[in-house]
Amino acid sequence: MATSRYIGPTPLHCADVASAIIAESLEGRDTPVLGVATGSTPLLTYAALVARSFDASRLHLVLLDEYLGLERGDPRSFGSTIDRVLAGPLGVTSERIHVPPHDGEMTAASCGRFEKLLHDLGGVDLQLLGIGGNGHIGFNEPGSPFDSRTRVVELSDRTMDDNRASFGTATAMPTRACTQGIGTILEARQLLLLAIGGHKARILHAAMDGPITPSVPASAVRLHPRCTVIADAAAIAPPVG
Ligand code: GLP
Repeated sequence: MATSRYIGPTPLHCADVASAIIAESLEGRDTPVLGVATGSTPLLTYAALVARSFDASRLHLVLLDEYLGLERGDPRSFGSTIDRVLAGPLGVTSERIHVPPHDGEMTAASCGRFEKLLHDLGGVDLQLLGIGGNGHIGFNEPGSPFDSRTRVVELSDRTMDDNRASFGTATAMPTRACTQGIGTILEARQLLLLAIGGHKARILHAAMDGPITPSVPASAVRLHPRCTVIADAAAIAPPVG
């Protein structure tokens, strides 16, 4: 089966397994390229990866998405988060960290240049993914076509509510982001989707066992020839109600 599933008893077990899969996927690559996700889900995995002794001296990190309208150094930006939790501890320098275009004039050309960069790097070896409460991957909200590419998107009300906590006031929350498309994500050589916590149980079940449909963007990972889904016991508990 193309999609393999691993259920870890605890989030720490999941992080340990996920970090082992990531380290193995990058081993021996001339230009290792790791696609990174933000949100709370991957944090333990990043800590576990940092604790592994693996060679990050040539590692490139590519972000899935970024809010529009935040400076690169804004602590609430996804770029800054990755600097803090992964790039800094691994010693990955800024020229090896690639963030989707997010400032200045956003055009099809700037998104196209980001896609070309992924191509020029030799493609993404492993793309780590979380799953949004509405099934989004990156910021591909429900309805995003499976062949979508890097582009600017409007965030859904649900996503804004879920992510608002990191922005303090409601007005400070960006309403738009630039995200790799689902088609872009599916081109990575390997996918690793992480789901942690009972609040992900309902949507994980829909994505993994329901129809493969743009209404549940994460269901697209089942089309990938090499995808691993790692969930903790809480995330696979039968949804209540
Ligand atoms: C954000 C990111 C997604 C991430 C999702 C889930 O919206 N764009 O890439 O998967 O949040 O976040 P969390 O892991 O905090 O539940």
